[in-house]
Amino acid sequence: MNYEVVLPAAGSGKRMGAGKNKLFLLLQNKPILIHTLNVFQEDDNCTGIWLAVKPEERDFIQQLLQEHGITKVKGLPNGGEERQHSVHSCIKEMEQVDIVLVHDAARPFITHEIISSLVKGVLDKGAAIAGVRAKDTMKKVHNGVIVETVDRENLWMIQTPQAFRFDLLYEAEDVAEKVGFLGTDEAMLVERLGYPVHIVEASYDNIKMTTQEDIVLGEAILRKRSLEKI
Ligand code: C5P
Repeated sequence: MNYEVVLPAAGSGKRMGAGKNKLFLLLQNKPILIHTLNVFQEDDNCTGIWLAVKPEERDFIQQLLQEHGITKVKGLPNGGEERQHSVHSCIKEMEQVDIVLVHDAARPFITHEIISSLVKGVLDKGAAIAGVRAKDTMKKVHNGVIVETVDRENLWMIQTPQAFRFDLLYEAEDVAEKVGFLGTDEAMLVERLGYPVHIVEASYDNIKMTTQEDIVLGEAILRKRSLEKI
């Protein structure tokens, strides 16, 4: 089943401390952004990519797309102040499709298997997001003191992609904008409408490149993958 994907790429990446958009940092000589784009470029079910970008980075990104043979990008609208605004500017420019995925451009290790489980999840249920089970003991802390040990059984760490029926996400974003609600992910906007969002068990490798340590980890994930191919 076909889908289009929205990749917010307009962040500042302050926590990376690179002095530039972290998506331009290299992993095995290729920008993080290109690693992410390649996954969708190579996925036959992906029929279009929407990239939210900073206006001042648009020319450079277009140059990267050309250099790396990324041909599926349908639009590069301006990103916004917050990630949610960046995603919304893509959704507003898209034509109606059946299924839309939202995926952080900063998560280059997403796999085709996870994507196809999510697409299947949307076909069955309308909304499905990637996540992994919490591994550590989880506690709620207030002013440095434990308030509660939370039952880990029901806790998941949420990632992207987050996949939705297009009309559902469109409505959720529209309502959020009208009432000025800012969520930390797209699922939150859909949950607010009372619509059940399902979870797809993803991978601990599907990290978001956030700090310098993630670059080291990212290189290790790529090395592991190339060894698995031998
Ligand atoms: O900052 P963080 O890594 O959590 O951002 C997740 C993704 O959202 C990144 O790919 C980043 O480029 C993007 N983003 C965006 N617009 C913003 C903030 C973040 O497109 N205003």
